Amino acid sequence: MDDKLLKTENLVKIYGTKIQTKVLHGVNLDIDYKEFVSIIGPSGSGKTTLLNILGTLDNASSGKILFRGKDLTLMNDKELAEFRNINLGFIFQFHHLLPEFTALENVLIPTWIKYKSPTSKLMDRAKELLEIVGLKERMNNKSTDLSGGQQQRVAIARSLINNPALVLADEPTGNLDTESTDQVYELLRTINKDMGTTFIVVTHDRHLASKSDRVIEMIDGNIDKDYLTASKGENLWECLAPEHCIYFQKKFKSTEK
Ligand SMILES: Nc1ncnc2c1ncn2[C@@H]1O[C@H](COP(=O)(O)OP(=O)(O)OP(=O)(O)O)[C@@H](O)[C@H]1O
Ligand SMILES: [Mg+2]
Repeated sequence: MDDKLLKTENLVKIYGTKIQTKVLHGVNLDIDYKEFVSIIGPSGSGKTTLLNILGTLDNASSGKILFRGKDLTLMNDKELAEFRNINLGFIFQFHHLLPEFTALENVLIPTWIKYKSPTSKLMDRAKELLEIVGLKERMNNKSTDLSGGQQQRVAIARSLINNPALVLADEPTGNLDTESTDQVYELLRTINKDMGTTFIVVTHDRHLASKSDRVIEMIDGNIDKDYLTASKGENLWECLAPEHCIYFQKKFKSTEK
């Protein structure tokens, strides 16, 4: 097994042919197993582009993506579709639930590729996931009969149905009120801790980002800063919110006396 879950080498993305816009300028990134990483940065800095390329939903113009040491840029479309289905979960800002289907049916959608009708094991797993996200009682509700926060929780359960090693989330709380935002983020954190799922979450919210293990700040298609928060490690050189930061906690403690 490779020492990192995900690595990128010099990822470049150029949009357009006649008029070319370079939006990723050679991104090098290592993601550890079970890490919870936030990506922040101004609008247009390339966060979604990077996430889509990491999720193989879009192609890089050049560079490599290694997942458990295997180069994804060498796979064909069929292999990539299978790879995504087995290894990745996706959560988007707008949940993309199917309105005519119940919460339970929506959670099972990613299994359709493999199974025409769900096995009883998958049904049990879907119900269990809906219980984890606090929606067991609502599993037979149509998705349109759920609140925004509840729909996003269904989308979280859906992203986990195939037990992915990595979940990629693009502003999963961008469309929610403050209370639902906190609940959804806590939920992602709990899943990360309990199931060992790795998360890469794009967010505009610095406060939320500071609750991750690690924060990557993008500016103009480059990684500008990459640092660990208190929950993760020791070799911290900068942090977003002092109360979440080991370095500052130590510093405050030593000056308090
Ligand atoms: N399909 C496309 N064709 C051309 N340019 C694009 C395309 N998609 C994105 N871009 C450009 O790439 C740059 C990065 O966009 P991206 O969506 O990755 O930014 P972002 O950091 O996710 O921004 P936001 O916070 O607003 O979601 C932007 O300048 C955008 O205009
Ligand atoms: Mg974006």
